[in-house]
Amino acid sequence: MADLLIRNARLVNEGREFEADLLVARGRIDKIAASIEGVRAKVEIDAQGQWLVPGMIDDQVHFREPGAEHKGNIASESRAAVAGGITSFMDMPNTDPPTLTTAALADKKRRAAASSQANYGFHFGVSRDNLDTIAALDPREVAGVKVFMGASTGNMLVDDPQVLERLFIYCPTILLAHCEHTPSILANETLWRERHGEFIPAAAHPLIRDADACYRSSSLAVDMARRFGTRLHVLHLTTARELALFAPGPVHNKHITAEVCVHHLLFDDSDYAQLGHLIKCNPAIKTRADRDALRQALAGDVIDVIGTDHAPHTLEEKRRVYGRAPSGLPLVQHALPAALELVGEGVLSLTQVVDKTSHAVARLFAIRERGFLREGYWADLALVERLAQPRQVADDPILARCGWTPFQHRHLRHVVRTTVVSGQLAWHQGQVQPRCQGLPLMFDR
Ligand code: DOR
Repeated sequence: MADLLIRNARLVNEGREFEADLLVARGRIDKIAASIEGVRAKVEIDAQGQWLVPGMIDDQVHFREPGAEHKGNIASESRAAVAGGITSFMDMPNTDPPTLTTAALADKKRRAAASSQANYGFHFGVSRDNLDTIAALDPREVAGVKVFMGASTGNMLVDDPQVLERLFIYCPTILLAHCEHTPSILANETLWRERHGEFIPAAAHPLIRDADACYRSSSLAVDMARRFGTRLHVLHLTTARELALFAPGPVHNKHITAEVCVHHLLFDDSDYAQLGHLIKCNPAIKTRADRDALRQALAGDVIDVIGTDHAPHTLEEKRRVYGRAPSGLPLVQHALPAALELVGEGVLSLTQVVDKTSHAVARLFAIRERGFLREGYWADLALVERLAQPRQVADDPILARCGWTPFQHRHLRHVVRTTVVSGQLAWHQGQVQPRCQGLPLMFDR
């Protein structure tokens, strides 16, 4: 008997939309056909009126395990992820201890194997002392190597030009960069502190972590990648100006790619008045003009993927004064519905959202047999319904451990009804399915 039969869905995949049934057996997509008859499955879902898409693959999350589990852990945050249609995630190295050694990497994999609802991969971190370890990494064992070229949560800044140069030369796999120029940020912050003391307003954040700080760092990263032939992926672009550094085109032809995060597409600096430190993040959310340029760059394939940078902090931490309120927001539970708002607003087509949240991410990281609705591939699926009336996010139970969402005042037009991870029901009928266990992502490198 098969595991799951989804009937009457509208599949959105590889540039096409079409009605079909989809059968899942042994964790994989067994069959896609206009009508699948004469087969019995343990679970059957009539998906009339719902889109069936490959689950979102999130290339940037901070699930806080180990070391900051009062904010979240792999179990809690992966539950929130599957409730939002995310079937795979790649976690960042700024944990405690940071992921700077193969032992720390192995520890994270062990933890995820025991507790993750979604499929998982881990990025390896960079310090000034671990370049030999990085150079010796097996590219199939890590999702990527992450360098903080700007300081953020976790104090992992690497800004020594010689260390960076060696990293760009010897990194054996895709190098992900957080780009902000820390000296100019510190200088800006000093000016604000002279005027406001402790009480710098939240709206100053994009003026402290400003467009110039982003450009100085991302242009340096792109320049080094061009010089040394590095496979570079610049994370969370936030400004119009940086977009000139990137070329349009399909992801598989590029050796320099870019990510934008869902909050930089959905919020702008007018939102600090209502949300304050809740939307304080690094790099900062900037102007409406920047937001609109990011949207256009996504639509024009200058930006390759949408990630979340899910970075939970507690409300107590967020209520502190500017200098002590940490940066980052919890996003996974509403990221895919939020990205789908761009369809409603006429910015992206539905097939483009699926490309940027799934196909392109799978291609960019060379993830084996995921990210597409194809027979033989792993069944990582989300069933999404477009509602007649947008629903208020404040009505949703919040699954991230920190218990809040920056979308609380928003109305969203889409809801994830069902998520399937490696062939198992992970989220269904408003409930996380407790027996679901994610698998490690495999990388064809
Ligand atoms: O806002 C952010 N929060 N940006 C980062 O780079 C790190 C993240 C976190 O870990 O809190």
